[in-house]
Amino acid sequence: MKTAVTIGLMICGLLAMTMLEGSVAEQCPFGHATGGGRKLQQVQGPTPAPMTAPAPALVQTPALSPLPNSHLTGPDVQGKPPLYFGFYDTTCPSFPAIVKRQVASAIAADSLTPAQLLRLFFHDCFVMGCDASLLLKSTVSNLAEQDHPNNFTVGKYSVIDAIKAELETACPGVVSCADILGAAAAEAVEQAGGPHIDLAYGRRDGLDSFAPAAKTNLPGSTLQVEGLIENFANVGLNLTDVIVLSGGHTIGQARCSTFADRFSPTAPNPFPDTAFGSAVESYCAEGNTVGLDRRMSLDANTTTAFDNGYFQSLVNGRGILTSDDVLFKDPQTKATVTLFANDQKAFFDAFQESFRKMGRINVLTGTEGQIRTQCSIRRPIDLTLNPNANTDFAQSQDQVCVPASCPTPPTCKGTQQ
Ligand code: HEM
Repeated sequence: MKTAVTIGLMICGLLAMTMLEGSVAEQCPFGHATGGGRKLQQVQGPTPAPMTAPAPALVQTPALSPLPNSHLTGPDVQGKPPLYFGFYDTTCPSFPAIVKRQVASAIAADSLTPAQLLRLFFHDCFVMGCDASLLLKSTVSNLAEQDHPNNFTVGKYSVIDAIKAELETACPGVVSCADILGAAAAEAVEQAGGPHIDLAYGRRDGLDSFAPAAKTNLPGSTLQVEGLIENFANVGLNLTDVIVLSGGHTIGQARCSTFADRFSPTAPNPFPDTAFGSAVESYCAEGNTVGLDRRMSLDANTTTAFDNGYFQSLVNGRGILTSDDVLFKDPQTKATVTLFANDQKAFFDAFQESFRKMGRINVLTGTEGQIRTQCSIRRPIDLTLNPNANTDFAQSQDQVCVPASCPTPPTCKGTQQ
């Protein structure tokens, strides 16, 4: 009977899967990256927020002063202008409405849009901070973050571009691409059924983007809890944030190639729900035989609804990635996973907080960076004012270059210690 139910649920799950061709190949000999112009590691973390959930053994983050009031928020770096709510209220009042409409229209065309917009923001923030460095295109002399294999399956840059284009008509030169990424991700979460997230704005766009930094700073899917803690701590986030933000996997999909470590020919299938694990393995293997890198919902319950189904999947032994599965297996994280599986509101409240913290990672504010006109291209900068700026970046459309069609392969920068 249990097997029949499991198979029935599997069929539902498999219906949620789609197929995709392609494989991932390394392009550069990526070593340890410094990320070039800006220091990536040892950033001061965002202000720890009170947890509604019982937070087991929080990882130590630097001692920071509490938020001065509910109106202002980080970047938690002394002497820098803060992000704040209502930043564009007078300079670009149509900003929220434009984002809302563009995200809704992108979702109407593709229900997987929210997952991709959320992942865009995460991949931007964890690599050189929330500065839209992920959006910059490669040039012949520099391979940018978006062309690192870790970002090959990140998508929906077009939605950000569409928002930016409309904003440049409504209020030219005002809204940063970094803020658009945050606003679009927050809007995507809400339109997928998740919490409303008020986000503070005032981020500015970075001047650099280096592919190797995407290797160094993004967490790997084979990590155990200790590895996840270390990776998140590098950007000032704690163990609670690891669990809460992993809840972003309540929407979206993973390619079988990204969780191939789950199918070892010599080790038993690691899924606690063994029938589910076997079905996933067969599904992926079938795709492999015809050269397809199939996709699987990260939340075995629903693919496009932002809810607490991901945590229920973990409790039921159906976590797809190793980094998901370990959250219920490890005693440090199990209690919080269980809480979120039983209490969606607790997850939503915590997600708002952790999302806002993520959105404050290493932001540029005040006069730092710039406001780009097109998100994929850096605007010309005055090198006398920015003597350390990297000159390998495109400052006009005709300088950008898609690696496969570049006259010579772009160089990997930022690999020197
Ligand atoms: C905890 C460490 C994390 C690891 C190891 C991880 C890893 C991954 C992997 C391997 C995929 C599948 C990519 C593919 O096959 O194309 C994925 C997808 C995704 N991740 Fe994460 N991730 C983590 C944290 C996060 C965070 C913090 C967020 C956002 C809050 C997030 C949001 C997403 C979303 C929404 C997708 C689905 C994307 C889509 O459907 O296109 N992830 N992640």
